[in-house]
Amino acid sequence: MKMKKTLLLLCIILSGSISWMNAQNEKPIYLDENKPIEERVEDALSRMTLEEKVALCHAQSKFSSAGVPSLGIPENWATDGPHGIRPEVMWDEWEQAEWTNDSCIAFPALTCLAATWNPEMSLLYGKSIGEEARYRNKNILLGPGVNIYRTPLNGRNFEYMGEDPFLTSQIVVPYIQGVQSNGVAACVKHYALNNQEIDRHTVNVNVDDRTLYEIYLPAFKAAVQEGKAWAIMGAYNRYKEQWACHNDYLLNKILRDEWNFDGVVVSDWGGVNNTKEAIYHGLDMEFGSWTDGLSEGASNAYDNYYLSKPFLRLLQSGEVDVEEVNKKARNILRLAFRTTMDKNRPWGSFATQAHGDAGRKIAEEGIVLLQNNNNLLPIDLTKTKKILVVGENAIKAMTVGGGSSSLKAKYEVSPLDGLKARIGNQAEVIYARGYVGDASGEYNGVVSGQDLSESRSADELIAEAVNLAKGVDVVVFIGGLNKSDFQDSEGNDRKSYDLPYSQDKVITELSKANKNLVVVNISGNAVAMPWTKAVPAIVQSWYNGSESGNALASILVGDANPSGKLPFSFPVRLTDIGAHSFDTECYPGVDKEVTYKEGIFVGYRWLDKEKIKPLFPFGHGLSYTTFKYGKVSVDKSNMGATDKLTVSVSVTNTGNRAGSEIVQLYIKDMKSSLPRPEKELKGFDKVSLKAGETKTVSITIDKSALSFFDPVKHEWVVEEGDFEAIIGASASDIKGKASFKFQ
Ligand code: BGC
Repeated sequence: MKMKKTLLLLCIILSGSISWMNAQNEKPIYLDENKPIEERVEDALSRMTLEEKVALCHAQSKFSSAGVPSLGIPENWATDGPHGIRPEVMWDEWEQAEWTNDSCIAFPALTCLAATWNPEMSLLYGKSIGEEARYRNKNILLGPGVNIYRTPLNGRNFEYMGEDPFLTSQIVVPYIQGVQSNGVAACVKHYALNNQEIDRHTVNVNVDDRTLYEIYLPAFKAAVQEGKAWAIMGAYNRYKEQWACHNDYLLNKILRDEWNFDGVVVSDWGGVNNTKEAIYHGLDMEFGSWTDGLSEGASNAYDNYYLSKPFLRLLQSGEVDVEEVNKKARNILRLAFRTTMDKNRPWGSFATQAHGDAGRKIAEEGIVLLQNNNNLLPIDLTKTKKILVVGENAIKAMTVGGGSSSLKAKYEVSPLDGLKARIGNQAEVIYARGYVGDASGEYNGVVSGQDLSESRSADELIAEAVNLAKGVDVVVFIGGLNKSDFQDSEGNDRKSYDLPYSQDKVITELSKANKNLVVVNISGNAVAMPWTKAVPAIVQSWYNGSESGNALASILVGDANPSGKLPFSFPVRLTDIGAHSFDTECYPGVDKEVTYKEGIFVGYRWLDKEKIKPLFPFGHGLSYTTFKYGKVSVDKSNMGATDKLTVSVSVTNTGNRAGSEIVQLYIKDMKSSLPRPEKELKGFDKVSLKAGETKTVSITIDKSALSFFDPVKHEWVVEEGDFEAIIGASASDIKGKASFKFQ
């Protein structure tokens, strides 16, 4: 009996200590990868002090914010974005930290990516840049940028994806998916209406709801709902007289309530202006603020951020409910579980050959052949003995400069070096400067290391180029804009639509000296080209990063067949564009108020409405081969509300080399209760064809392609009636149409 009792006691003690040991070994819920993220978030939150929660909501250095040290949750580290991983900066300064292991691969600018019209290139881009971010231990990539191209003067258009909401939406989604497959959050920017750099910190944008929903929001919505972006960055400007970084309408009503965004809202650097609004109007994380009473860069300034001590004090006093910080902390913890706390995320890779190759491929697909009279291009190396390259952009490093997207690249192949390397001894390549643009090359302590100083006068430089031009087989002028202030650069808009530095004069003189003139315009914006009649071949290139010179050489000699198309229109003159067809209230604004008077008629939508012929239309781009389109057909003549409709057309490569064509589907509503654009892009497909090959391209749409935003009902509506499916090789080059009804 005694024996039994002792045994029982022993069992009780043993089982007690086993369950005690289990409790000790059991993972807290927030660390248990098998638990749903929401449970982990709540568990982590329940273990945090008020101070720890507030610490999550603001920066602790130029690019980082606190984690939860007591719980082992790492800090958040952000990086620009969107074209490569920015060099490390000092903890508390914009100047670079002079690390020696942070030279990245510079990828092509997002204008180039958009010009590929190829979602596969976007996925490759996102995956590659995400790997670079991951390797550098960043969990937030500040990009991509999807603000709509409203005016060719906007200094930051090169960081965006053009004028069309549909094209931008299609390209942004795979980029985000590629980045996030690395356990790095894409932070889509700048939400919303940051369409100019002039007065960007103060301007209030007046835009009607319909225009907001139809033109300026779709790419952000696609980024959130289809791309499932984990972060979004507020813009600097104001809207409805509230700062976009803490804006009730944009952030609470649209982003959270309508789109169900469950990621983190990050402020733009210095975009927060008010604690109460930052608390209540949808912001989660504050970065880069100048602080009250302390100068920029003071070491403890972060404590004075709007969402730091001022926020804490309001919470402690009970004036602000703790739930307000809980909401923000939940979003930020969710980010941690998706990124730094995901033990299955890959390790990334940095500055690899594979990333260089990816950049080159994207650049080759994005360069646009605008004009090619007499088939001057590709340069026929069997007949060419001597080539003259003219222009500063042939030699100038473009990865340094432009603002926050400035990079410290591991290497950058200039157009001149790329051409020389490709041509080798097949022909002689000589160079003349032609003009001096901006000889400097420095940004936040990163120097291009080039000495571009020049003592000769403008006339002497032109004379040299013209003399040399007379004695060569082909002249390739490589100019355009650059990343200096008031060009393609953050913080300022361009002052004029014209090419700077008297390049028009150089081009005109060259065209008189040699009829075989190729002009390569490198820019992120349309420019005036008053000399198009005198120049047989024109190429639109972009800031193409590390591999820019190699990619351009491939196109010029024909190793790659051009297949890019313009993601924005090239108007003949600035006033041909909607934003410049009104007074200064419309652009750049008066008394810090800008009013988008052109409404939904942005880009080709305006040109179509006003029947203005552009210099080069949206969607335009030639190839070294030719394509013939067949008859356009639709698979049903009546489309119902739940139906899908397929538009088909055959395309034949009628030339003698392989090439790719971007087939564009525009939809026209024949009659509507509200004014609608003449046509709108609603589908496209990039099809590759061998010489002589024919393929049928089929593009399927649903009723969303027919709808418009009704501002009174505050919803997308489709009206019954007749529609046209228009197939074009560009917005101006219409190949065929088919009619159908919506009933
Ligand atoms: C820019 C952002 C950028 C941030 C951090 C801001 O000035 O507007 O696009 O991500 O700086 O560099």
